[in-house]
Amino acid sequence: MVVLVDGEHDDARDGVGACAGSGALGAFPRSGLWDEWDGVRLYSGDAASVLASFPEGSVDCVVTSPPYFNERDYHGGELEVGHEGTVAEYVERLASVFREVIRVLAVDGTCWVNIADKYVRDRGGSSLANIPALLSEALKKDGWFLRNDIIWEKTRAIPDSASNRCANRTEHVLFLTKSPRGYTYNLDAVRVPLAGSSVKRLAADVEHEAGSARAHDGRHVMRAVGDPNRGRNQRSIWRFCPSNDKNEHFAMFPPELPGKAIVTGCKQGGVVLDPFNGSGTTGVTARALGMSYIGIDLNPEYLGIARDKITTRDWDPALLRNVDC
Ligand SMILES: C[S@@+](CC[C@H](N)C(=O)[O-])C[C@H]1O[C@@H](n2cnc3c(N)ncnc32)[C@H](O)[C@@H]1O
Repeated sequence: MVVLVDGEHDDARDGVGACAGSGALGAFPRSGLWDEWDGVRLYSGDAASVLASFPEGSVDCVVTSPPYFNERDYHGGELEVGHEGTVAEYVERLASVFREVIRVLAVDGTCWVNIADKYVRDRGGSSLANIPALLSEALKKDGWFLRNDIIWEKTRAIPDSASNRCANRTEHVLFLTKSPRGYTYNLDAVRVPLAGSSVKRLAADVEHEAGSARAHDGRHVMRAVGDPNRGRNQRSIWRFCPSNDKNEHFAMFPPELPGKAIVTGCKQGGVVLDPFNGSGTTGVTARALGMSYIGIDLNPEYLGIARDKITTRDWDPALLRNVDC
């Protein structure tokens, strides 16, 4: 078989076995429980406090979009994330939630955090605060492994009035793990077809081509990057439209985002968690993919919206095939 990207394939599959995270939701506490039904539990309260009562290693995959810095009011009161006085305080507040997340995550679990940057006042002008990078560094210090900083390119976006800088239409999705290897990465589920030029290149037996040993000062021969029959790994730019349904919750991510994260990083029948549940988009995709789901939100009004959405909304995983990546 042809070796894939960065040798990640073999690492990611080694040692993946049964873990505490898989299975039913009976192991989770009843305190803070707002509602439950088949394969779903919704908890009301502050994410860090609710998570503190969850068993260690009990979740297989976390997909979430925390409130962005100084962006919106979710009517959650003093415990609401996003209204800290400084970017540094905001990053520390988020990191404190993710200290509980890493504890409840199974050793082979994965975590996907959708985060955006923000312009802040700077020397009489404004600069991007670099929030995705600051958060990444804080999480790494707390023990997380940052496996990818995925760029979500919005294929449609509200117009940006800027005339002296580029119009922004990207956000970040941090792909984090608790373990350096052996975590779930369902490579075969996320393969995409090879370009015609790559198929030709593979047919040319690059490892034995004259000159290939010269690459990287002769330290490595070039390696093929895919399998002509099965395709190549997905790339770290994800392209899809933002959600345009503002009726339910004004900061929803599109279902393709959690859908793609779960397909990539959750074992079959695993437990998916969103500690900033909002309208429950992660829950809709988790259930459509046959996973159990746990959502937490400070504002019970959103939990009601999520309950309606998760119990009535269908999402077709086949839609991911239209995602250009
Ligand atoms: C960006 S929204 C999530 C939207 C969600 N991804 C969706 O598609 O609907 C962030 C959510 O975090 C919730 N939130 C804010 N602070 C919280 C806290 N301390 N604990 C739990 N939830 C919190 C807000 O009420 C809001 O619903």
